[in-house]
Amino acid sequence: MDYELISKIKDNIDIVEFISKYIPLVKKGKNYFGLCPFHSDNNPSLSVSREKQIYKCFVCGEAGNVFNFIEKYENVSYKEAIKIVGNSVGILTTEIKIENNKNQVYYDMYDLANKFYQNNLFSNLGTEARDYLEKRKLDFDTIKKFKIGLSLNNNDSLYNLLLKKGYSLEQINNSGLVRDNHDIYINRIIFPLNNVNGLINGFSGRIYHGENLNKYLNTSETPIFKKGENIYNYFNAKEETRRKKYVILMEGFMAVIRASTIGVSNCIATMGTSLTKDQIGLIKRLTNTVYLCLDGDNAGVNATINNGKLLLDNNLIVKVIPLTDNLDPDDYIIKYGKEKFLSLIDNPMNYEDFKIRRMKLGVNFNSSEELASYVNNVLEEISLVNDEIKKEIMLKNLAKETNVWYNTLEKKLNELLSKKQISKNNLVLPVKKKKDKYVKTLEFIIYYMLIKKEVITLVENSHVYFPIDDYRKLSLEIINYYNKYGVINISNFLDYMENVQELKPILKEIISLDLDDNVSNQTILDYLKVINDYNITLEIKRLEQMIMNEVDPIEQAKISNKIRNLKMGSENND
Ligand code: GTP
Ligand code: MN
Repeated sequence: MDYELISKIKDNIDIVEFISKYIPLVKKGKNYFGLCPFHSDNNPSLSVSREKQIYKCFVCGEAGNVFNFIEKYENVSYKEAIKIVGNSVGILTTEIKIENNKNQVYYDMYDLANKFYQNNLFSNLGTEARDYLEKRKLDFDTIKKFKIGLSLNNNDSLYNLLLKKGYSLEQINNSGLVRDNHDIYINRIIFPLNNVNGLINGFSGRIYHGENLNKYLNTSETPIFKKGENIYNYFNAKEETRRKKYVILMEGFMAVIRASTIGVSNCIATMGTSLTKDQIGLIKRLTNTVYLCLDGDNAGVNATINNGKLLLDNNLIVKVIPLTDNLDPDDYIIKYGKEKFLSLIDNPMNYEDFKIRRMKLGVNFNSSEELASYVNNVLEEISLVNDEIKKEIMLKNLAKETNVWYNTLEKKLNELLSKKQISKNNLVLPVKKKKDKYVKTLEFIIYYMLIKKEVITLVENSHVYFPIDDYRKLSLEIINYYNKYGVINISNFLDYMENVQELKPILKEIISLDLDDNVSNQTILDYLKVINDYNITLEIKRLEQMIMNEVDPIEQAKISNKIRNLKMGSENND
């Protein structure tokens, strides 16, 4: 690692200013606070220290220096993070070599393939496909923006091109682009798919002249493409989503592309399937609010209900953009125009209201039985809402539409809620594993080693053995670092520890502790004594075990002598 370059970059950066570009920070005491982007945060729990040039979150335990922030925020490697931060202050980072990814060859192939497909579309053989795209109102700029292409037939195959470019048969066959020396994509409009870093890692090909085949053909799993881990347009929608603070989730390619033609660029698509855990994780990295804008048909409504629940269960805020006439967003925008669609987005529906609206469909309000069952269903729904004001509004609406007295509804709702409370109390909550007193003590000591060099000297001179491997290793790394540089600096120590990845998690955990930075030497000595006494207790236990297994009385006497000395020693230390 090039520490000279790293420190040159850091000299030009203030972490408070830098992080402020990503999240608003407010000064409170010595530090700056903001909403933590690494968990769904309602109270500002991310603290940024100008003095230490580090950030930490008291809730999720994420912590680090400016490079670690970008590493996590942009989901890039440490080296890439150095490049990004360096470039942001105009420092050339060409010296940093990002190791060739072992999958680079596949990314190269997909990039080449995409260029090839894009060329085909604008060749003589692309006339029919171009007509098709024109009919679907996709203009030249949009085709370029989404890098849409065209695959032809086996006379003009990608396979031949890949061979000519020198790829091995094995690579070609593993690429997911070719099977048995034949192209997978024949006569299809090609939509490239990108990974989270914007690299093309797959394709989806659409038929365009009435063949009796699957409408879309997606890339099979390859080393760089895993089903359920991709979201269409994720990379391109990133910036706009962070700006607008919500993302619009759609079903298909055409919906996302159409929305972008009217300037709505914070749209992503699941590509037809239901949401996976991985996809939800990706969404959470961008925003905590999702607008569901799925197709207006029955399937779309069901998917809205199901996906909405999944998102809510993952602590995301869910709103719905309901479409009418069974239309998908593409057809809807074409039929009703830009302004109408924009006004829908400006007035998203609450997820609960959307659900209730669906419950109401087909209910005969003249039948007291049907009405009662509808009321009960809606109350059940309201009982799930966390917001008291929202609850009251929903109750009022229900009273008005059903002519049931408000107080009756409220009473019924409270009954439901207290029943829920009881069953909730009966749940055995998983107890968060409480940290051992000694682990905590070791964490305290290491925390202060990281901020006061006097503490490092105290620990070194005390010769107290840290009884847990990782904590011992970490304390030795700190001592080594201090002996080498003569100073201790958390931000720089984090860079130093890039080579000792396995200790990073406990290091982060320790840094993120919410402790008072002022500590007396006496307190540190007290902590060290706690650890020392613990070591002695362990040793005594071990020796007592030995006595029990020892048959020779002379040996027994020797051991019990040792035990006595140990016990006295620990008392003398008081
Ligand atoms: P157009 O029919 O071209 O307007 O596309 P669409 O996006 O409206 O398609 P549709 O609503 O039928 O399907 C939504 C999404 O599901 C598509 O964008 C695809 O991602 C996916 N999908 C649809 N049909 C197929 C298929 O036959 N195979 C696969 N793998 N995915 C499909
Ligand atoms: Mn469509």
